[in-house]
Amino acid sequence: MDLLIKNGTIIKAEESFVGDIAVSGGKIVCIGTGLTMQAEQTVDATGMLVLPGALDVHTHLAMPFGGTVSADGYLSGTRAAACGGVTTVFDYPLQRKGQGIIETVEARKKMCDPEACVDYAFHCCITDLNGGAVLDEFQDAVSYGITSFKCFLVYKKEGMMVDDGTLVKVLLKAKAAGAITNIHAENPDLIDMNIEQFKNEGKLSAWYHYLSRPEFVEAEADKRAVHWATSVDAPLYIVHMADKEGLTAAAAAKAKGYDIYIETCPQYLEFTCDVYKREDGRNFVCSPPIKGQESQDALWDAIKSGMIDTVATDHCPFQSYEKDWGKDDFTKIPNGCAGIENLYPYMLSAANEDKITFNRAVALCATNPAKIFGCPSKGSLTVGKDADIVIYDPKKDVTISVQNMHSDYDHTIWEGKMVHGYPIQTYVRGKLVYDNGKFVGEPGFGQYIKREPRK
Ligand code: URP
Ligand code: ZN
Ligand code: ZN
Repeated sequence: MDLLIKNGTIIKAEESFVGDIAVSGGKIVCIGTGLTMQAEQTVDATGMLVLPGALDVHTHLAMPFGGTVSADGYLSGTRAAACGGVTTVFDYPLQRKGQGIIETVEARKKMCDPEACVDYAFHCCITDLNGGAVLDEFQDAVSYGITSFKCFLVYKKEGMMVDDGTLVKVLLKAKAAGAITNIHAENPDLIDMNIEQFKNEGKLSAWYHYLSRPEFVEAEADKRAVHWATSVDAPLYIVHMADKEGLTAAAAAKAKGYDIYIETCPQYLEFTCDVYKREDGRNFVCSPPIKGQESQDALWDAIKSGMIDTVATDHCPFQSYEKDWGKDDFTKIPNGCAGIENLYPYMLSAANEDKITFNRAVALCATNPAKIFGCPSKGSLTVGKDADIVIYDPKKDVTISVQNMHSDYDHTIWEGKMVHGYPIQTYVRGKLVYDNGKFVGEPGFGQYIKREPRK
């Protein structure tokens, strides 16, 4: 046996119990009580929680965006992931006009492979169908392990937006190929109209980022995506849900039995749009923007009720000097914030404070994302699965600061946030990659996860 973790409280999505976990060859081979086998390494987890590693299914590493490239590459992003208990990272390569899907993903895989400190997978953003050639490639992409395609309903000027016709073609083709369509939902015309008006009025502070894309701007696109997905009966995954009205519409369709999944992010659960009134409001600029209290309350209700399926980060940090480009003009602020290292500690802290159960935190951050996105070896402490394991001290309080994070960015929206309880060790396929505040893994150890098609 390579590793024996003894006497911890094992947390699964459906139950918790005190027990031992035995690991061999990177897999969980036995779970029980009073296990006595010889192991190369034995860890006493008395008083600790033992959790499955999280899957952060929404990140943008080394992403060209907003006139620059996001501040975490594959090495620093996956290193930070390891230190926050995330053992699988999903990135979003962007297919561009004239490019194929596999060509797009392979270029990113080449970059990621030598650098990945944890396991990794890719969704692929579709921005252009190349006269239909891209749709014809869906089946091959699924065989390659890409079982989710993303459409942006915004970012028109950036050349990333798709129209409704393209969206419906993607929905249908993805379903036929055994894949799912992910959607960034905001209405671009409303945003452009608002921006033009605010520019004419000289209203250019970060607060106007929020006012140019308020609740109803996101809600319209959420509802439109739900409308098309239900009309053609195709699976849909709405990323970074942030508004109450869109959430309510998606939840209603889910309740009727449609194959719809909802993701939100910690920044929408922690902050409200008031952050955009702060002197450093530009640092919180992301799209969709953080909404008002009513939306935040609705998101928490849906987390508790199970209507929200996953929490992921939308990790897309930029350096302070880049955020400063928009000090006097919010339209020049690169959109995106950091979060990869904070996801699991934040959701587990919510559990530690009895806002949700630990089982629910595990479901949201590990078990559900693994199921939705076709990773049968991930997301749960179960015999036969990968030994992606987090040992968590529920009594260790940590104040988040850029100084104690493991990314390459120079500021974080989470600065000063105290979380109650913290991961003390992270194992990826049985290998220790994080130990008490220190990254101890190896770039290149992370493996590409070839995902399974949907049944
Ligand atoms: O502001 C954000 N979210 N930046 C990353 C790209 C996206 O829309 O997810
Ligand atoms: Zn987005
Ligand atoms: Zn994103």
